Amino acid sequence: MQKIVSLAKRRGFVFPSSEIYGGFGSCYDFGPLGVEMKNNIKKAWWGEMTRKQNNIVGLDAAILMSPKVWQASGHLTAGFADELVECSKCHKRFKSDDVKNKCPKCGGSLAKPRKFNLMMKTFVGSVEDETSETFLRAETCQGIYVNFENVLNSMRLKIPFGIAQIGKAFRNEITPGNFIYRTREFEQMEMQWFCSPQQADKFFNYWKQQRMKWYLSLGIKKTNLRAREIPIRERAHYARRQVDIEYKFPFGWQEIEGVHNRGDYDLSNHAKHSGQDFKYEGYIPYIIETSGGADRSFLAFLVDAYGEVKGGRTKTTEATKETEILLKLYKTLAPIKIAVLPLVKNKPAIVKKAKEVYKLLKPYFTVQYDEVGSIGRRYRRQDEIGTLYALTIDFDSLKKNDLTLRDRDTMKQKRVKIKDLIPCLKKQLYPTA
Ligand code: GAP
Repeated sequence: MQKIVSLAKRRGFVFPSSEIYGGFGSCYDFGPLGVEMKNNIKKAWWGEMTRKQNNIVGLDAAILMSPKVWQASGHLTAGFADELVECSKCHKRFKSDDVKNKCPKCGGSLAKPRKFNLMMKTFVGSVEDETSETFLRAETCQGIYVNFENVLNSMRLKIPFGIAQIGKAFRNEITPGNFIYRTREFEQMEMQWFCSPQQADKFFNYWKQQRMKWYLSLGIKKTNLRAREIPIRERAHYARRQVDIEYKFPFGWQEIEGVHNRGDYDLSNHAKHSGQDFKYEGYIPYIIETSGGADRSFLAFLVDAYGEVKGGRTKTTEATKETEILLKLYKTLAPIKIAVLPLVKNKPAIVKKAKEVYKLLKPYFTVQYDEVGSIGRRYRRQDEIGTLYALTIDFDSLKKNDLTLRDRDTMKQKRVKIKDLIPCLKKQLYPTA
C-alpha cells in the first residue's frame, strides 16, 4: 500500500486534503490524473447502467434533504451506528470489537460500550438550533426513493425499471483508514431497481452477476475478485439479502460494492412517514440495489494495475539497473491516453513537429507533451502513470511525416503516418465506437 500511496501522491493521482495544515480527518483530494481516472470510472459505470442495460434512467438529487428522510430510512436510530467504548482518561473512542480492557493509547480504563451514530450533522439557515438541523446524506439512494413517483410519472415508466445516481455521501466513520478505502467523504455509484416481490430473487442474481462482470470487463483480475454472501447478523439494517463484491487489497479481502435486496423496507417507511401511497398495481415495489464506491473501485483498479519489473523491461544499460513501475490500467480508465515525445529537444524542427502533433490530438484524447530527459526515462514516466501510447517524433519524421507509436504493454513500436494518426488511435482506443 505504501508504494501505491507514494505513487498516487508523486504522480498527481491523490493528495492528502489540507496537507499544508497537516491534513484533515482522512480526507483526500484527487489530483490532475486522479480526477481524469475517477471520471473515467464514473463514465464507464454511467454508460453501463444507462446505455448498456435496459430501462434505467439517471438522477442527480440534492445532498441536503429533509431530516424526516433520515428518520424514515432508519439512519438516525441504532441501525446506522457503531458500538464504541470511550477511555475515561484520554477520551479517545474505539470500536468495541477492536479493544480489550485497557485503552490502547494511554492504558486508561474503558467505559461501557455506547452506540455512536454515523450521520454527519449540519445546519441549514442562519440559526443553529434543532429546527434547522439536518444531515449530510449517508447514502445517495435515499434521494432516489423520495423521487420514485416523480421519476415513474415524468418518464412514464413501468416496473421493473431502475434509477442510477452518482454522488457524494458522508459518514462520520470512527476508524477511517487504508488510504482512500474508508473515508468520511466519498462518492457512491448506486442503482436502485424497482420490481415486484415475486421477481426480486431473479433480479438479485442478475444484478450480482452483472456487477461482477463489470469489474472484470475493466481489467480486474479474476483471482482478485469474489462475491460473498453476507450472513443475517452482519447485514445492513434494510437488507433481506446482501452480497458483498470484494477485492483482494494488500490489506486483505474487502468490500468494494454491495448488492442488496432491500425488499419494501424503504418505500414502506417513506409511505408511512410522508403519508404518500407508493403502491404500484396493488403492491409496494421491492428494491434491488447495486451500491458501489467510486473511491474504493478507484483504489482497486489502481492496485490491480500496479506492477514492478525488477531490472526494468528495457535493455539499455541505464534502465537495466532500475526497477520499472508499470501501471497496466484498462484503456478506458487510463487518465492519459497518449504521450507526445520529441526524440531530442535541441532540434527545433523536431520540437516544432512534436508540438504540432500534440495540438492535433489534444481535442480528441487526453495527451501529455514531454521533452524533459532521455527518451528511455520519458517512456518509463509514462508507463508509471499507465499512458497507453507514446508517440516519438524523430529525424525520419521530418522527411516522411510520420512517427513511432509505442504500445505501453508490449513496448512494440510501429511507424504511423501523421495524417492517419487520429483514425488509427481512435480504432485502438475505442474499437466499438
Ligand atoms: N445504499 C447502500 C449503501 O450505502 P454500503 O455497503 O454502506 O451500502 C456501499 O455502501 C458502498 O459505498 C461500499 O461498498 C463502498 O464502496 C462505499 N462506501 C461506503 N462507506 C464508505 C467509506 N467510508 N469510504 C469509502 N467508500 C465507502
